[in-house]
Amino acid sequence: MTDFGIGELRVDGADTEARNHSSEEENEDWIKPLIHQSQGAKEFAYCPYSKFRVGAALLAHDGTVFTGCNVENASYNLGLCAERTAIAKAVSGGYRSFKAIAIASDLEDQFISPCGGCRQFMREFGDHWSVYLSKPDGSYKEMTIEDLLPVSFGPEDLKKKRLFTTKNGS
Ligand code: THU
Repeated sequence: MTDFGIGELRVDGADTEARNHSSEEENEDWIKPLIHQSQGAKEFAYCPYSKFRVGAALLAHDGTVFTGCNVENASYNLGLCAERTAIAKAVSGGYRSFKAIAIASDLEDQFISPCGGCRQFMREFGDHWSVYLSKPDGSYKEMTIEDLLPVSFGPEDLKKKRLFTTKNGS
C-alpha cells in the first residue's frame, strides 16, 4: 500500500486473480489499509443535513481502490450513500469485479452497517465478496454480501425461465 489518499489507488498484495492461493493462506495485509482509505474518504463527506459522515473504499480484483463518501442534497431524497458513490465511480471507470468494500463512520461503539439499498447495489456485482463494517478505531467485522442480503434478487434472476413472457413489454 503506497498512499492513503483519495482517488483510484492500489492496494499492494490484493491482486488475487493472478495468484495461486488457498483461502487459509491468503495474505490479508490489505484489509487495514482498505479500512484506512474508507476513513480518509469519510473526511470528504458532504452531509450538511444528517451530519452523519460515511466513507467507503472499494477494492477491485486487480488491486485498484475506488473511494466514496455520502453526498447529500437540499432535495433530501437525492442524497447518495458512500458505498454507492464508490461503486458508481468504479463501474464508470470500467470495473465490475470486486473483492471487498470497507465502510467507515463516526459511530463510536458500533460497526457501520450498510443500508438496504446499498446492499442491493453491491449485490448487483455478486454475492460472494466481502464487506468490512468498521469502527473509528479501525476494528472491523467481515461479512459477505450474501450474509447481509440473504435470498437476494440479482441479474441472474432476470435470465431465468418464466411462466409468462411478454412480447412488447406490456
Ligand atoms: N449513509 C451512507 O452513506 N451509507 C450507509 O450505509 C448508511 C447511511 C449516509 C446516507 C446519509 O447521507 C447519512 O448516511 C445518514 O443516513
